[in-house]
Amino acid sequence: MTLPPVTLPNGAPDELAGLEEEVAALAAERRAVLLAHNYQVPEVQDVAHYVGDSLGLARQAAATSAEIIVFCGVHFMAETAAILSPDKTVLIPDPDAGCSLAAMVTAEQLRGWKAEHPGAVVVSYVNTSAEVKAESDYCCTSGNARAVIEAIPADREILFLPDFFLGLWLERVTGRKLRIWMGECHVHAGIRPDDITRWHDEAPDAELLVHPECGCASQAMAFGDERTRILSTEGMVEFAKKSPKDRFVVATEVGIIHRLAKEAPAKRFEPANPAASCRYMKMITLAKVRDSLRDTKHVVSVPPDVAARARGAIERMVAIS
Ligand code: 13P
Ligand code: SF4
Repeated sequence: MTLPPVTLPNGAPDELAGLEEEVAALAAERRAVLLAHNYQVPEVQDVAHYVGDSLGLARQAAATSAEIIVFCGVHFMAETAAILSPDKTVLIPDPDAGCSLAAMVTAEQLRGWKAEHPGAVVVSYVNTSAEVKAESDYCCTSGNARAVIEAIPADREILFLPDFFLGLWLERVTGRKLRIWMGECHVHAGIRPDDITRWHDEAPDAELLVHPECGCASQAMAFGDERTRILSTEGMVEFAKKSPKDRFVVATEVGIIHRLAKEAPAKRFEPANPAASCRYMKMITLAKVRDSLRDTKHVVSVPPDVAARARGAIERMVAIS
């Protein structure tokens, strides 16, 4: 029996191969760099010049000599790149690629919170709008949030926003009491304590890699064992490559599985919750990347006064490891 060809959601394999070639050629012609987050669809990751976490992508955007940055990720990431590289053209292939977590707090709400706590240091997760960053003292990502909190003098009050689960994890690892905004990412919050407990009990040979934004992060911390790690997406990749173990359960957005499987092909990676897919990240398709490069769309710009006020917090983030 002949099976019908597998059609991927974003196009047939031949069509994708043709698009990959077209995108690579356009990128070279236009002297563009393609930056992709670890949650991007496989074919976008495969054509990107650099794939990484929020921190790595921000560092690449700050350091690139390319004239055009095509940001294959969500809007706040492209905004961060535009703030760090004001002399470059930053493009996002779909301007509607937002983030439910970044939408949890506005600059006006943050101003109100600051007014209730005068003198407090404001630490914003990178998953925030440029306007919120402009009201912040520090930005951080999951890759350096702990180091950012530890860099703040112990006697200072800290307002941490907008992710509640990340804030709880930070309190635990730093021993600092934080004031934490009650926000969450719908994808990570949907990875529940039951998901990780089931894997913990049923896969004793597996290492459990858990992103601190997850709804199961507190449960994972409570295991308190050697085989459960709370890590950023890039931290997961580095850890899995070096670990002597060959089986990993991954609690974060499912796009990371492609990157992990590429970086450590002999190992086995299973999603803690296969439904944890970010519809915003998946809005970026290869065809939209091609259109973006070909037609110089959609340009991401941040008003200069907002960018000037946000830059300090972002540069502090990029500097702290
Ligand atoms: P990191 O890539 O920084 O771990 O962030 C995860 C995330 O949810 C990005 O939207
Ligand atoms: Fe935002 Fe969550 Fe999607 Fe990351 S996974 S971009 S935090 S909605």
